[in-house]
Amino acid sequence: MKIGIDKIGFYTPHYYVDMEDLAEARGDDPAKYTIGIGQDEMAVAPLTQDAVTLAGNAALNVLTDEDLEKIDLVLFATETGVDHSKSGGVYLHELLGLKREARSIELKQACYSGTAGLQLARGHIALNPDSKVLVLASDIARYGLATPGEVTQGAGAVAIVVSANPKILAIDQVSTTLTKDIMDFWRPIYSEYAFVDGHYSNEQYIEYFQTVWEEYQEKTGLTIADFEAICFHLPYTKMGRKAIEATYPEGLGEDEDRIMKNYEASTRYSRRIGNIYTASLYLGFISLIEHEELAEGAKVGFFSYGSGGVGEFFSGVLQEGYRNYLYASEHNELLNSRTKLSIPEYEEIFEERLPVDGLAVELNKDADPADICLTGVVNHERKYARK
Ligand code: CAA
Repeated sequence: MKIGIDKIGFYTPHYYVDMEDLAEARGDDPAKYTIGIGQDEMAVAPLTQDAVTLAGNAALNVLTDEDLEKIDLVLFATETGVDHSKSGGVYLHELLGLKREARSIELKQACYSGTAGLQLARGHIALNPDSKVLVLASDIARYGLATPGEVTQGAGAVAIVVSANPKILAIDQVSTTLTKDIMDFWRPIYSEYAFVDGHYSNEQYIEYFQTVWEEYQEKTGLTIADFEAICFHLPYTKMGRKAIEATYPEGLGEDEDRIMKNYEASTRYSRRIGNIYTASLYLGFISLIEHEELAEGAKVGFFSYGSGGVGEFFSGVLQEGYRNYLYASEHNELLNSRTKLSIPEYEEIFEERLPVDGLAVELNKDADPADICLTGVVNHERKYARK
């Protein structure tokens, strides 16, 4: 039985910063941001958007009544969740109209947990072929103003419906994984910001890729020539390219043009959004299939990396007619209708906080065009609404 991605879409908030403006404000050469890092724009979340609302807005765009009827499991992947105890998915049950019998849990392992959700969903569908699983990957990446990581911030979510006989991508059975206890990037529970050993994290990303990719090739007998494209976790758009170049210092020979052209297509949405941690790999996949007309039956590879760290290489096959189930025009409309912030405006929004002392606050949901918004906090309870 084929199992995989039946539907996939993303959401990102309505504010962004131009990276040339940010470079100028930080006294850096803009080319460092746009070429050296590979980011043109960075999504900025207002207080009315958090990991829950971003995921909810991504899901609203893809779910139909039939999906809602069949979904019996919600896997919410995030590393910027809003509660240590309650799962982000539970907040969304009524807002999305999910059925009461559906289980809902949150998954954590840095940027890897979206992939964990996808693989766990496959197991669930194998046991329950008539059901569907909703995998939500949602994050707001924050390193702090004027830090080296600032240029790699972002905000957004991807919603994936996993089913039997999927319309978009059938996921292959074989995958290779690597788990090692390292400290390249982490966020202690008392900290709002991630701590990161930036250059070490780059090195580890590459080492993880090389290990799981080599093991995948040994296990399957496949090589780069068997792949139409490879999607990478994209903390910034240069990172996957760095991994390819480090692994193939002499280039990819006759596969070079195909792999690099498709890599570039997979980075286009990330260039305008930034890092969305758990969702970045899947934003890359959406970007690939919405910007390049890949053949039905083509094999796509995926490298997932979550600092700390877990890595995985897996693959899938594009299904017949998959192009009929994409949301390219909606995604482009979402990106093109955003409001550009000046750097002082971005810094002001970045410094805004919800009360942590039990005081009530009401937020202006009408200032946010998203359907699902955080409307305030009362007695430490977050209040959400769907317009
Ligand atoms: N023109 C063009 N390119 C320029 C340039 C210029 N004027 N100036 C510098 N560059 C290039 C550099 O040569 C470098 O390119 P290479 O990496 O190809 O050598 C690139 O711009 C970045 O320059 P630096 O390394 O000097 O940048 P930095 O020290 O300020 O930090 C960073 C870069 C380490 C990525 C930092 O932004 C950071 O810590 N980010 C957060 C951590 C991160 O994203 N790690 C990625 C792997 S971990 C992961 O994937 C999980 C996750 O999501 C966090």
